[in-house]
Amino acid sequence: MDVEIIIRPDRDTLVRPERIEHVEFGTLFTPNMFHMKYSGGNWHDAYIEPVKHLQLHPGATVLHYAQTIFEGMKAYRQKSGDIVLFRPEMNIARMNMSARRMQMPEISPDFFLKAIKALVETEANQVPELPGTLYIRPTMIGTAPQVKVAASKEYLFYILTLVSGPYFLGTSGRDPGAVSVYVALDKSRSCYGGTGGIKAGANYAGTLETTSKAYAMKCGQVLFLEARDVPYRERRVEEMGGMNVCFIKNGALYTPRLHGTILPGVTRDSLVKIAKARGIEVHEEDIPFGWVEDGLADGSITEAFACGTAAVVTGIKSFHFDDGRDLAPSSAVPGPITQQLFDAIVGIQFGDAPDEFGWLHKVL
Ligand code: COI
Repeated sequence: MDVEIIIRPDRDTLVRPERIEHVEFGTLFTPNMFHMKYSGGNWHDAYIEPVKHLQLHPGATVLHYAQTIFEGMKAYRQKSGDIVLFRPEMNIARMNMSARRMQMPEISPDFFLKAIKALVETEANQVPELPGTLYIRPTMIGTAPQVKVAASKEYLFYILTLVSGPYFLGTSGRDPGAVSVYVALDKSRSCYGGTGGIKAGANYAGTLETTSKAYAMKCGQVLFLEARDVPYRERRVEEMGGMNVCFIKNGALYTPRLHGTILPGVTRDSLVKIAKARGIEVHEEDIPFGWVEDGLADGSITEAFACGTAAVVTGIKSFHFDDGRDLAPSSAVPGPITQQLFDAIVGIQFGDAPDEFGWLHKVL
């Protein structure tokens, strides 16, 4: 893909705050964005410019049929001053996988990485120190006006960056923190053959009602089970809508197997690799909810945690049910393995530990 990126940014506005812990995740946009158009079968007109409102025809496919996909990744400021990306090739590959499923045009991985690096370089002075990061949000939307149900012939691809602290307010980002999780027994987020395994905006829209209910119960996330009309104890554990889930039982790590209905998380994959390298037994397998319920009730599940780019590794202190029950893992939160995995991944990302898997890409 041979598209020149024209760079004409606002370099004067600094949004980086004094105390990153107090910034609500996902709200503090940096001044500049990358954007590029697709029409006539080609990507063209690539710019890095001040963030501006979009002009869209009200008939755009994104507005009617939710033809939109996105990614979530981060740039880290290391103690040495270097700014690095963590496994960006995985996000890029997943975005192209999402594009194929949603009938949207792919972007050459080399160009995609070049665009991310150019934007992060432009926003370098906005990248906070630990526990802050620059959250990177590549997004693609169908823009052609068309009410017929068919893939758009025109697209906009853009990348926003946000100055970010911890995903869960009240956590510091310096340790795994602790959240409560609401177990949704009457709603699922995806089904077999659906789009649960890609990062389609519509997957998230469908979770908002349940997420609002969880927030009202002071829970930070929702645990979704598979969409099958069988007793809930037989339904497999899926993910939490915005992050994957892991359990520790008898010192081994258990996480749901990828089978097309849950997102293949970059953090999930990294923790599995780190855990194996540390000699922790890993089980990626189908987990019926009854296994979780029994393990929490008899104390054999000692730890549970959420993991994702935004969430990093966040301890789960309890699972809350509609009938008022609360079941907690038996170790104090964060448990020792949760802490070990948090330290290992954050250590690599912020440069306190060697990049033993070769996951970092230096931007500056
Ligand atoms: C991420 O972890 O980057 C995501 O895209 C999930 C979203 C809940 C912020």
